[in-house]
Amino acid sequence: MDRLKGKTVLITGGTSGIGLASAQLFRAEGARLAVTGRDEGRLNAAQELLGDDTLVLRSEAGSMADIETLMAAVQDRFGCLDVLFLNAGLAHPAPPELVSEAQFDEIMGVNFKGAFFTIQKALPMLSGKASIIVTTSITNRSGSANFSVYGASKAALRSMVQSLSLALIGRGIRVNAINPGPIDSGGFQRLPLPPEVFQAVKGEIAGRSPIGRFGTPEEVAKVALFLASDDASYVVGEEIVVDGGISLVCLP
Ligand SMILES: NC(=O)c1ccc[n+]([C@@H]2O[C@H](COP(=O)([O-])OP(=O)(O)OC[C@H]3O[C@@H](n4cnc5c(N)ncnc54)[C@H](OP(=O)(O)O)[C@@H]3O)[C@@H](O)[C@H]2O)c1
Repeated sequence: MDRLKGKTVLITGGTSGIGLASAQLFRAEGARLAVTGRDEGRLNAAQELLGDDTLVLRSEAGSMADIETLMAAVQDRFGCLDVLFLNAGLAHPAPPELVSEAQFDEIMGVNFKGAFFTIQKALPMLSGKASIIVTTSITNRSGSANFSVYGASKAALRSMVQSLSLALIGRGIRVNAINPGPIDSGGFQRLPLPPEVFQAVKGEIAGRSPIGRFGTPEEVAKVALFLASDDASYVVGEEIVVDGGISLVCLP
């Protein structure tokens, strides 16, 4: 119950799905938390769920101004950070010919640029044994016809994790990634599809999975807890796949 006792944690995209499940688990393990999101309803629901002692902030992950404001708020509340979990992300699935420049910029801005600069701006606050965790995706290794920009943004993160690991381990800061496969998160459930299409897509993906089902946000949160905790003290620059085995059959 105390694997994060006394640690301060910031989770971007902590108001839904994987981020919210991680926030709940981290809190139960003794962490003091700050979480971000955008949607007002989900921000309020997260505040209620995570309690008044959790800092819940509206912050646009791809905005430099919001990142600066976020860091000032976290500095003000905690003074330092032990765990930084870069989890905010979005996909806009579409075939390549339908991807607009605005969507391209938003995906790369939120998923990649936002993660990089949040780490950069957090560096002065990170403690000597800090853990940085980045959420990537199995699309960063296997092709996926409707996720070309999204997969590329997550591949950029995978590369970034390796380089930042080398840059930061001398200060004691570990950087690692979690690579989820299909997870039945709020984001997935909110895909704008008619119910019958949604069920067909879900059934098709589950049918291809060796484990025969989607993962849950809680199953990913348990891996995030491992990477956040001192149990992962010798794990550096790694990307842990949490996908029920589906990338084994997706990879060429
Ligand atoms: N679910 C999957 O199958 C799957 C698979 C592989 C990787 N992932 C990755 O896992 C991470 C979490 O996804 P999830 O499935 O848990 O989705 P989710 O339930 O939709 O949660 C996403 C979180 O990120 C926040 N967010 C999204 N865009 C943001 C932005 N521009 N600025 C600030 N916050 C933003 C959301 O807040 P709002 O709702 O308020 O916007 C929410 O808190 C993402 O990086 C995603 O790419 C998911």
